[in-house]
Amino acid sequence: MKENSPFTPGNPVPVELFVGRVTQIEEILKYAKQSTHGRLENVFLVGERGIGKSSLAAFLKYMATIKENLLGVYLSLGGIIELEELIRRLIEQILTEINKERDLQDRFVSFFKDRPKYIRQVGLFGLSISFNPPKNELEYMARNFPETIKGLWDKIKDRKKGVFVVLDDINGLSRSQEFANWYKSFVDNVTIKYSGGFPITILAIGLPEVRDSLASIQPSLMRVFRIINIDKLENKEVEEFFKKAFDNAGIKVREKAMKLMVEFSSGLPILMHEIGDAVFWRDEDGVISEEDARKGILVAADRIGTKYLDPKVYRAIRSERYRSILRKLGEKPFLSFKKRDLESRLNANERKVFTNFLRKMRELGVITPDIEGGRGAYKFTNRLYPVYIWMESQRFRKKLK
Ligand SMILES: Nc1ncnc2c1ncn2[C@@H]1O[C@H](COP(=O)(O)OP(=O)(O)OP(=O)(O)O)[C@@H](O)[C@H]1O
Ligand SMILES: [Mg+2]
Repeated sequence: MKENSPFTPGNPVPVELFVGRVTQIEEILKYAKQSTHGRLENVFLVGERGIGKSSLAAFLKYMATIKENLLGVYLSLGGIIELEELIRRLIEQILTEINKERDLQDRFVSFFKDRPKYIRQVGLFGLSISFNPPKNELEYMARNFPETIKGLWDKIKDRKKGVFVVLDDINGLSRSQEFANWYKSFVDNVTIKYSGGFPITILAIGLPEVRDSLASIQPSLMRVFRIINIDKLENKEVEEFFKKAFDNAGIKVREKAMKLMVEFSSGLPILMHEIGDAVFWRDEDGVISEEDARKGILVAADRIGTKYLDPKVYRAIRSERYRSILRKLGEKPFLSFKKRDLESRLNANERKVFTNFLRKMRELGVITPDIEGGRGAYKFTNRLYPVYIWMESQRFRKKLK
């Protein structure tokens, strides 16, 4: 009986199953190494929802800690919209990381010999730190942020080469003028006051619209960031992922099954985990056959539809009215299409509802005019849409049955 799937749909991937992103890793680590000579580096990682930003961040934190001897700090800022909460959590997380490393624990103790009550060791083995200073002190730390960080750094600088801070999902803060101004002045202050003595890399992470929103409220802020983009994985990376994952679980994969799983994953990390997981649970004999793969992919397609698509979009895509047009649109999972090309493949009945169809899909935010594609060109707003539509049309054509 199977007990443990190696796949982690929806959660950052464990380091041993991480694949791809080689150029981005090299580039970001290059900046992190450069920062160990004493300069603040600011990197902005941009990518669509679910494309693998947090997984890359977790992998980089691991590399920075193990290979580069930096203090790695990861902070998920999901629902945070207040600057002071960001600062409180950041300091709390830095303290927790210092406390976690056996090498640094003595520093921690001496650092806080007569520590105030608002810093406490919590958690199972007292490994986590809770940091809840009074409001006025937090305000002071926010105002003097470079000094605060420098103070922490000076305590550990003979044991570490620098600090690598991940600020994941800064979505909520990206519309805050206060945050944008504060960050810009933090960078300026560090450059002026501590040139050569601030070996810290900050990796901020957000969706493409987050970058745009920050750029519009504080145009000079985006100039301090080095921008790194991530997109789909390559097919050979997806294959490497399936090999590693099934190998880890002691399961063999037949060649045709592998081809199907790679093809249907379409380079999207979310899909490869959903497909892998469904196929893993479907298999009964420790060998993934073509049949296992097909059946698993169908289960995964259903999960994608219900888990990741907006319910209104899901219903529209599955509605009787538009289904046959969608099947024609979904012959291949193209990210964009021309109205004219699609129309030429429709029958008389389909043509009657075609204008409505386009309007509805635009209203729902599934497609948007593709300016680069010229007149009458549309593109999907999310890569999952064309892939899902394609999966559904393959199901219809019985390629998956
Ligand atoms: N390089 C990778 N190798 C293997 N699996 C990956 C990789 N990148 C992402 N994944 C998997 O893809 C899914 C989405 O990844 P992740 O959560 O890192 O994306 P994200 O861009 O941070 O998403 P969100 O926008 O929702 O925060 C997860 O199931 C994760 O395990
Ligand atoms: Mg994420």
